[in-house]
Amino acid sequence: MLEAVDIAKSFGEVQALAGASFSLAPGEVHGLVGENGAGKSTLIKVLSGVLRPDRGQVFLNGRRVVVPSPAVARRLGLGTVFQELTLLRWMTVAENLLLDDLPRGRGGLVQRRKLADRAAAVLSSYGVESIDPLEVPDRLSLADQQILEIVRTLRRQPSILLLDEPTASLSAGQVDWLFAQVRRFRTEGGSVVFTSHRWKEVEELVDRLTVFRNGRDVATRERLDESEAVVLMTGRRLGEMYPPVPTATSEDVLLEVREVRSNVLDGVSFSVRRGEILGIGGLAGQGQRELFLTLFGARRAKGGEIVVGGQRRRIRRPKDAIRSGLGIALVPEDRKQEGLLLPLSVRDNLTLPVVGRFAIAGLIRRAEERRHVGELIARLQVKTTRSGSQAVETLSGGNQQKVLIGRWLLAGAQVLLLYDITRGVDLGTKHDLYKLVAELAEAGHAIVFYSSDTDETAHLCQRVLVMREGRVVRELAGAQVEPEAIVAASVMETAEV
Ligand SMILES: Nc1ncnc2c1ncn2[C@@H]1O[C@H](COP(=O)(O)OP(=O)(O)O)[C@@H](O)[C@H]1O
Ligand SMILES: [Mg+2]
Repeated sequence: MLEAVDIAKSFGEVQALAGASFSLAPGEVHGLVGENGAGKSTLIKVLSGVLRPDRGQVFLNGRRVVVPSPAVARRLGLGTVFQELTLLRWMTVAENLLLDDLPRGRGGLVQRRKLADRAAAVLSSYGVESIDPLEVPDRLSLADQQILEIVRTLRRQPSILLLDEPTASLSAGQVDWLFAQVRRFRTEGGSVVFTSHRWKEVEELVDRLTVFRNGRDVATRERLDESEAVVLMTGRRLGEMYPPVPTATSEDVLLEVREVRSNVLDGVSFSVRRGEILGIGGLAGQGQRELFLTLFGARRAKGGEIVVGGQRRRIRRPKDAIRSGLGIALVPEDRKQEGLLLPLSVRDNLTLPVVGRFAIAGLIRRAEERRHVGELIARLQVKTTRSGSQAVETLSGGNQQKVLIGRWLLAGAQVLLLYDITRGVDLGTKHDLYKLVAELAEAGHAIVFYSSDTDETAHLCQRVLVMREGRVVRELAGAQVEPEAIVAASVMETAEV
């Protein structure tokens, strides 16, 4: 049905596709899987006429085609749901859905009521009853916007459906709905390309899948087991995911927390030494997030003491945390909300809080700034160019996370509060982040680490505090630090500290 041969595409110095090929059989659902940044979306955009490739060919039914624009792609029977939403914000759901054939009255005016009824009928024919046709997309949930995109594309009755990460914002039930639509589409003779960085989800749906890595296809299979998926997607073995836990800790206590209380925290005490990775465990929502935000000064404590490098400090806002002698920094799970200025470059994001350090008499010493930025990018293995000129918003989540860590390092923070930093991050970048955390401990930082993935906590931390209902109920150290032990301590009723 569709074949891509040796497609290459670069954005400046970033090579997104480096000779990628795959072929789609008639009536097939074909998964494209691979880590964030592997090049899946770029390939979808090339096939859909949004991007012109630097090299390579596209064949449709065995005939070479050139797809210069999305309109031509549609005419060729390709229907695409892009990773980014494309709904028009100033139009209603109904107008977005029926844009191609708006019912018009005698004066050429669009008939609002008729339009709404027709849109409702279209939605309902795809089993969607919950979306109001007269609403504007901005007022819908992300999931409903995504569903609307999908219905809009299906309604045009393409012969090939290209779905780029369509499940990212959907709930489990909505994913079932989507899979039912895809299966129906296939039964009616259509072929489907489906991308995701979660191969498990794809495997359930697809007839075959092609794994992408660094802009190339590396294998096409009907099935993949987990260890093979990891090797193909990351180039690494499963057992090599975690670095060895750093062993050398000094007696030097960098952070001590004494009986800290808030609305949620019920008297939390602990200390972290230089070179230590202290895990915070427990079931979700037992006060872990509150603890991190409180230590960083983003939430007010109601009582207790925070001692940094032997000195009692008042931490009422993040500025106090950063300036508290040794510097306390928070890297949160949601880098979009907290900290990064997405449209700005990697360089600007790294140097923003310390830009004065590179200045003499008001002039920024660009050469020195460049050198520091280049060193940090290399040390953190940020997947971007050495100059740091790429906009942060075009990096994958895990790479954005590295930039945020880099900023705090440059600002001189010694106590790092890492809160669920690998959430939603692909496997290879997770591996980079684990290594980075271990290296930072070895370099003498004190790290407080929380993860929603207990395996991570168990593999990275020397000591783990298990929290329940705002309190530390158990401390595990050394050989006790095992995923099973953390889980057991999280759910067991016996409160022993
Ligand atoms: N418009 C762009 N400008 C610069 N770099 C880009 C752009 N689009 C994608 N990239 C880069 O190309 C690479 C591949 O990205 P993408 O195709 O989105 O991967 P995937 O969809 O597999 O996550 C990434 O390194 C990404 O940062
Ligand atoms: Mg993508």
